[in-house]
Amino acid sequence: MNRGIRSYVLRQGRTTPAQARALDELLPRYGIPFEPAPISATQIFGRDAPLVLEIGSGMGETTYEIAAAHPEMDFIAVEVHGPGVGSLLNRVEGAGLRNLRVVRHDAVDVLSHMIAEDTLAAVHIFFPDPWPKKRHHKRRLVQPAFAALAARRLKAGGTLHAATDWPDYAEHMKSVLLAEPLLEPAAHGLVERPGTKFEARGRRLGHPISDLYFRRRGTAPAGR
Ligand SMILES: C[S@@+](CC[C@H](N)C(=O)[O-])C[C@H]1O[C@@H](n2cnc3c(N)ncnc32)[C@H](O)[C@@H]1O
Repeated sequence: MNRGIRSYVLRQGRTTPAQARALDELLPRYGIPFEPAPISATQIFGRDAPLVLEIGSGMGETTYEIAAAHPEMDFIAVEVHGPGVGSLLNRVEGAGLRNLRVVRHDAVDVLSHMIAEDTLAAVHIFFPDPWPKKRHHKRRLVQPAFAALAARRLKAGGTLHAATDWPDYAEHMKSVLLAEPLLEPAAHGLVERPGTKFEARGRRLGHPISDLYFRRRGTAPAGR
């Protein structure tokens, strides 16, 4: 992948005192530091359970709700935005969640280096930055090289679930994911995606929401 182009621009934004405290005190407890070597989820969570990686967890509402509803699975949320990471850490601590960890780093690097092949039960990408201007389309996260990377990190049968309220990004994602030989369309994801405030606003503005489900094929096609 062209690693000169990132799918985000780091805006500092306002960090509340509670988020700042979480980054100082909770990140060392519930965070996984970026390292360019595969992690062991079994060691991190102290068990063998289906592992879900979420890319761009934002403020973490959906991430938190899904992890709380599925104690039988383990979740790694990847986000670069400090205030969002701080918010999610506060939720994790407040609810005493034991099945959710956070990596504050670029998710493409995390997938490339920290996640071994054939590892994930699901990849979640909810409302990725749409980059609506044509000259910015190259910044969109879901591109052919990304699809190939994510597919290889999934176990056979593992699902990639992406949601967006931008119809042309939905079309773009669909064609990119359909073109990836390791993926095939699926009827649903591993878990249900709860609605968010962000999504409710999109609906009020008349933006249709698309949920796209793909599954890693059972056996890799010849030549891959
Ligand atoms: C539009 S927000 C959506 C957040 C959340 N998923 C939701 O549904 O409310 C997209 C998020 O993805 C994050 N993001 C974009 N590219 C990323 C990357 N390569 N690695 C980690 N986070 C990324 C951004 O910082 C931002 O918080």
